[in-house]
Amino acid sequence: MAEAGESAKRAVTIAVDGPAASGKGTLARRLAASFGLSHLDTGGLYRAVASRLLRLGGDPGDETAGEKAAQSLEQKDLEAADLRTEEVGQAASVVSAHPGVRAALLAYQRQFAATPPGAVLDGRDIGTVVCPGADGKIYLEAPVEVRARRRVKELRLRGVESIESRVLQEMQDRDARDSGRAVAPLKAAADALKIDTSDLSPDEVFDRALSYLTARLD
Ligand code: DC
Repeated sequence: MAEAGESAKRAVTIAVDGPAASGKGTLARRLAASFGLSHLDTGGLYRAVASRLLRLGGDPGDETAGEKAAQSLEQKDLEAADLRTEEVGQAASVVSAHPGVRAALLAYQRQFAATPPGAVLDGRDIGTVVCPGADGKIYLEAPVEVRARRRVKELRLRGVESIESRVLQEMQDRDARDSGRAVAPLKAAADALKIDTSDLSPDEVFDRALSYLTARLD
């Protein structure tokens, strides 16, 4: 009986990783709602650090300044108006390569994941570094050209016109930085379910993830 009680209180953790515009945010939000879990967009944390740094006139390439910004992050930084801009996304990719910045954000992410009833975290290193013992791990992928076209559409829906070749170039740069960094690079965990989202609708991606997770969490 005690064992059943303990396991009922245990936090369930689901990791959703993948590159920019792979669909991980949409999937993570839907999974969290479906399983009654909290959701953490970990990219938002790195974006908040970058946004704070830029606001203070700092250089995203400066590790000491990045680490300071990460250590002094406040709620208002997580709600900054420029968080979703491409400029902040690029700067987030630069600051997130600094080991000191990653270390400053690690405990918060782990604590969030460990708080009952548990959480779905989306990012780049959730299944490999933040929550290597996650109950379920999903890695979304799609060729960079497909993801750049998606991003152009998303931006258009937000009223931002952009040049596809430029978005593609920036996404290639970001992929290279996120995958090539020495600490916690973007990569699929060996035990993750990989889903190529190129030809799938968000509903189809959700259905695949749901059947994999339902089987694992049972
Ligand atoms: O998912 P996103 O586009 O909001 O992420 C912005 C940047 O933050 C991304 O280019 C790399 C970094 N990031 C990271 O290094 N690790 C994570 N877990 C999430 C994001």
